[in-house]
Amino acid sequence: VEVKQLHRTGFHFQPKKHWINDPNGPLVYKGVYHLFYQYNPKGAVWGNIVWAHSVSTDMINWKKLEPAIYPSKPFDNFGCWSGSATILPDDKPIILYTGIVDQINTQVQNYAVPKNYSDPYLREWIKPDNNPVVVAGPEVNKTAFRDPTTAWYGKDGQWRMLVGSRRRDIGIAYLYKSKDFMKWTKVQHPIHSVEGTGMWECPDFYPVSLRGENGLDTSIIGKNIKHVLKVSLDATRFEYYTIGKYYPEKDIYVPDNKSMDNWNGLRYDYGNFYASKTFFDSGKQRRILWGWANESDTANEDVAKGWAGIQAIPRKVWLDTSGKQLLQWPIAELEILRGQKVELSNQKLNLGDHVEIKGITAAQADVEVSFSFSSLDKAEPFDPSWKNAQDLCSQKGSTVQGGVGPFGLLTLASEKLEEYTPVFFRVFKATDKHKVLMCSDASSSSLKGGLYKPSFAGFVDVDLADKKLSLRSLIDHSVVESFGAGGKTCITSRVYPTVAVWNNTHLYAFNNGTEAITIASLTAWSMKSPEMNH
Ligand code: FRU
Repeated sequence: VEVKQLHRTGFHFQPKKHWINDPNGPLVYKGVYHLFYQYNPKGAVWGNIVWAHSVSTDMINWKKLEPAIYPSKPFDNFGCWSGSATILPDDKPIILYTGIVDQINTQVQNYAVPKNYSDPYLREWIKPDNNPVVVAGPEVNKTAFRDPTTAWYGKDGQWRMLVGSRRRDIGIAYLYKSKDFMKWTKVQHPIHSVEGTGMWECPDFYPVSLRGENGLDTSIIGKNIKHVLKVSLDATRFEYYTIGKYYPEKDIYVPDNKSMDNWNGLRYDYGNFYASKTFFDSGKQRRILWGWANESDTANEDVAKGWAGIQAIPRKVWLDTSGKQLLQWPIAELEILRGQKVELSNQKLNLGDHVEIKGITAAQADVEVSFSFSSLDKAEPFDPSWKNAQDLCSQKGSTVQGGVGPFGLLTLASEKLEEYTPVFFRVFKATDKHKVLMCSDASSSSLKGGLYKPSFAGFVDVDLADKKLSLRSLIDHSVVESFGAGGKTCITSRVYPTVAVWNNTHLYAFNNGTEAITIASLTAWSMKSPEMNH
């Protein structure tokens, strides 16, 4: 008999059991979406890594296939680690991935191709014997050399791709070039490197349009575009990106601001989100971001529940009109899961109020809310020494009275609030403008001990001229994935309530600031469960 799982997600991507980590090689082929991912077929801890494989026509309902790439050759006998897919001319997908060749974790880059291009499911992959195609040269650290990106094609007839690395404490993304995808040569200079950041895992490099929300093929270069370089920092387990300019003739990337390595850097997500990767969805002309949200419980608990790790809901990404940051939004297909709906409007929240949003399954829901207020006069002064949003959120939690805010949602809440994960805003007055803090605070999420319960937070770069702030939260048993101000600041938390589970879960809106807040509009839906890798 199967025990009813308290924390298993209802609509997030996960296999039936065992450990997962990075999303790998996402692609669309003949109208079918493919997601590969790092997977341990033997247990709920990291190890024995293969590329598991699932297919979908909407990125919401998933069908499980057999693993696509698994250790079997001298060039990957000790592991098939992360990598990316590239679509070659005539719609021919090819995968580059990292193979582990020995017990000391020596890393090489390999390729794999579909056995049968007429199979839209691309069930079988071949790893030809001319692998590996890239090995670390003498100047490269061969045990820190992994996660090849999607390749892009230059006007000179050469493919280019990046491999993550480090040299001492310098994080590096090496650049390689090839005419035929088989013989790769390292370009003298890396595409980028930053002192003091340590190993750069899972780099991603792609163009974004200066206008509109459409995505671009990874090989697009030219006017009216910028480039994004993202890396995953092994040292902090956070990801950072820069927006900048790529000069293809010289293969130089110049970030607009150099903030990869500090707390003010740009992040896709200020919570539990790592080893992410984008791909261009050519059918719908959008760029999609996949990211891994690991567990925040102990390894023993992971083993007890038989699984560990989920993928966050795929997000559309595009450049904000300011050109200074990206915007992200859950793919529209998610809305097919919306069921029972409740609405609220013009609901006032005075200091200390919390109102329940009734009539939906609060443990598995999608909530969109727009808050408004009439004045910013009561905003607390911002102390310029507050550099770290997460530290600030841990001091000024949802119960600490403020001026404008804290206000927001209490998600995964028990009726008497012994447990709740608040997602909220707090507005401060800085010298020239207002500073908006957004928090997703796990510190009160569970009565259970031994959990990692961070007060995740980021600042939101908004102009409050309209005196409004919007929030969307995807609530799914052990995950709360939130999008502030239309996707300017996103935060994913993994939480493990003990009382606020299934039908004992509640959802509230609250205000703990002296300025009254109005829920201008709120819509919440119960979310159905899609077909998930049966
Ligand atoms: C990131 C990572 C990658 C590596 C893979 C191994 O989470 O460490 O750098 O390829 O996971 O599973």
